Formats: sequence, C-alpha cells, structure tokens
Amino acid sequence: MVFLNEDIIEYSKKFSSNPDKILTELARETQYKALMPRMMSDHLMGSFLTLISTMINPKTILEIGTYTGYSAICLSKGLKENGKIHTIEINPELEYFASKYFKKMQIQNKVKLHIGNALNIIPKMDILFDLIFIDADKKNYNRYYELAITKLNKGGFILIDNVLWNGKVLTDPKKNDLETQTIKKLNETIMNDDRVNNMILPLRDGVMICQLL
Ligand SMILES: C[S@@+](CC[C@H](N)C(=O)[O-])C[C@H]1O[C@@H](n2cnc3c(N)ncnc32)[C@H](O)[C@@H]1O
Repeated sequence: MVFLNEDIIEYSKKFSSNPDKILTELARETQYKALMPRMMSDHLMGSFLTLISTMINPKTILEIGTYTGYSAICLSKGLKENGKIHTIEINPELEYFASKYFKKMQIQNKVKLHIGNALNIIPKMDILFDLIFIDADKKNYNRYYELAITKLNKGGFILIDNVLWNGKVLTDPKKNDLETQTIKKLNETIMNDDRVNNMILPLRDGVMICQLL
C-alpha cells in the first residue's frame, strides 16, 4: 500500500466483513506453501471484488492471473445463478492448489480454470464477458487491456490491479523498468480511450475501473 498508513489499513479491515473460513484457510496455505504470497489479493481487495461483482451481478467473468484462486473465489460470489467465471493461469503448478479450493467452496461447476498463456487463450475464446479482472504479468498489461476490450459486453467492466505500482507511476522510470513504463502507458491509453469511462481507485496498489460505453 502506497498512500495509507498501516493503522488505517488495519482499521479498514476491522470494519470490512470478514472473509469466510475457506478463504482464510486458502490465504494461510498460500502464505506457507506458494511462492510470492504477496501476489494474492488480501482481505480488503477480496471484499471489494466480491462487492463489485455482486453489484454487477455478471453472467460471465474473465480473470487473467488465477494464482491460488483467492480473487476468483471472491469474484464468483457475485455471479448470476447459472453464471461462469473463466480464470487463466500460466503456471501449471498452481492448478492443483486453486482447483482444490474451488472444490472446497463448491464452485467447481461455476469456474473454468484454463492453464496456459492468456495471450494465446483469450483470442480463441468465443464468449463475451460482463466483468474482466486483469491481474497477471505487468509487462503485457497493454495487450491484456486491448484483448479484454474485444471480449467485453457493451456496458461491461474491466478491473485492472496494481495500476499505481507502489507509487512508481509518479516517477520517471529507468530504461530497463519495463513494468513501470507499461503501467504508466496503460493508464495514459485508458485515459485517452473514448470507448470507456474510467477511474483509478487508490485501493491497495491501485485498481483501474473501466466501463465499456
Ligand atoms: C498477481 S498474481 C494473481 C493473483 C490473484 N489474481 C489473486 O488476486 O489472488 C499473477 C498471476 O498471473 C500469472 N500469469 C503471469 N503471466 C501470465 C499469462 N501470460 N497468462 C496467464 N497467467 C499469467 C502468474 O503465474 C501469477 O500466478
């Protein structure tokens, strides 16, 4: 978190509904078994994803970057009765972990986990989505955004995580800092994109919210 101090974050967590038991177990298991557990959404981000998904009440969701499944579970909670979330993860070693928790949550029929590179998988998808969450490698963020736009229903939403990139968006990035460069470029692209209405929510590491007009 860039702008808020730890006490404010703890206070916000205290006054946000608690994650259910299985999500808490998933978060603990991620902490001690998975590489780079910081990549996982936390309590506040998870609550936000659940509430925004519930507000949109989508029939179809696409997530780019499953990791251990925390955000996919949070997003799935807002799906319509027969809705489906497609979530894409490039690392096959995470398939067992995420699938185990989709079963524990009894949402295995609502989730389709695709193992592979999102850049190859998305163009082959013959589905339009109501909500798309982009949370994978930052270097490809511009490409994910353009792909997402082609797979979004009119009026649908794209959420993009980490668009403040720990405050580095305020700096002039070094030549070899491709991630900061890409994120800054993406924020500019979206700001100048008259296909969408957008805002950055300074939650955690920054979430860009776009609605396709
Ligand atoms: C930040 S983590 C996702 C965290 C997860 N959404 C959550 O909130 O708990 C990013 C994930 O994207 C995956 N990833 C990276 N490049 C990818 C690609 N080209 N296609 C699909 N997944 C990719 C990584 O392996 C990693 O598990």
